[in-house]
Amino acid sequence: MSTAFASDNAAPAHPAALVALQQVNDGSAAAYGADEVTAHAADALRETFGCPDAEVLFTFTGTAANIIALASAVQPWQEILCSDIAHILVDEAGGPVRLSGAQLTRLPSSDGLIDPTALDRHAARRGPVHHSQPRIVSITQSTENGRVWPAPAMTQFVDHAHDLDLLVHVDGSRLANAVAALGVSPEEAIGDADIITVGGTKNGMLFGDALLVRTPRHFPGIRFVQKQIGHLASKNRFVAAQFLAFLRDDLWLRTATHANAQAAQLGAGFQRLGLRLACPVEANEVFVELDAETHRRLGEYYAVHQPDLEVPVVRFVCAWSTTDGEIDDVLNTLRGLL
Ligand SMILES: Cc1ncc(COP(=O)(O)O)c(C=O)c1O
Repeated sequence: MSTAFASDNAAPAHPAALVALQQVNDGSAAAYGADEVTAHAADALRETFGCPDAEVLFTFTGTAANIIALASAVQPWQEILCSDIAHILVDEAGGPVRLSGAQLTRLPSSDGLIDPTALDRHAARRGPVHHSQPRIVSITQSTENGRVWPAPAMTQFVDHAHDLDLLVHVDGSRLANAVAALGVSPEEAIGDADIITVGGTKNGMLFGDALLVRTPRHFPGIRFVQKQIGHLASKNRFVAAQFLAFLRDDLWLRTATHANAQAAQLGAGFQRLGLRLACPVEANEVFVELDAETHRRLGEYYAVHQPDLEVPVVRFVCAWSTTDGEIDDVLNTLRGLL
């Protein structure tokens, strides 16, 4: 059974991540992020995203980064808005609700892309004591369906949310793929968002995501929340060293560019086989329509994910390590099944 397209989490770690770990494994260093490597990595993130005043936190997982961001933004009587397919809504086991105490409300979306006017109705409910009070909206770049917010749409969305006095969180577990796809600066890919989860693991690291907090005044106590949920790494230098290595010489964008290109190649291959793509391939994920029998038989060879069991669409994810040979193999296997 091949896991080649199961997830970018199934990919191996990039050799640069392992080298980075080895390089900082030299003697003792201050614990809990008070070390020099962590300081340098935080500076590198601030520089990359052009926000010299941002606070930077590191976590082991993207779920933790999302939860820390949201739980430190809201009171239990407030409301978090997100798309109907948001990872925080459907794939974090209710963690954001449990740890923030706040209501999570789904907004209609097109593959995770939300029309800014969808926020208006919720903002208008503010005031009466009977309603949860909207405080923050979370969007995902690139989205759970592998779509990318174009820079102008991102700016428009974030600005509209701010006009409505909503904070904006960007779940950037695959932010590198979006930046690479857009060909814009990292800053442009996130607009003026307040807090950003910057993915590392899916991008090729062994482990580690980061939080870029651009408006720290809105996230009081964020470091306490990080500690409470067990994501203040005592040996943080090993997370930070990987970020340093990936931000250096734009390795994070090179790995993402490769993953995106492989996904484009895979999508084109599916279309040549006469299969229909469920949505455009814009980053490193491909969603293809497969009837139940073909999916079942493919499942004998490949572990692939069907996000919604009621919809005959299967997800293929490419990573920094996806080879042309792996793409040829899966296309040949499918050709034999169709
Ligand atoms: C969009 C998105 N956000 C967050 C996460 C969470 O990352 P982790 O598995 O590291 O907790 C994932 C993981 O698949 C994801 O796809």
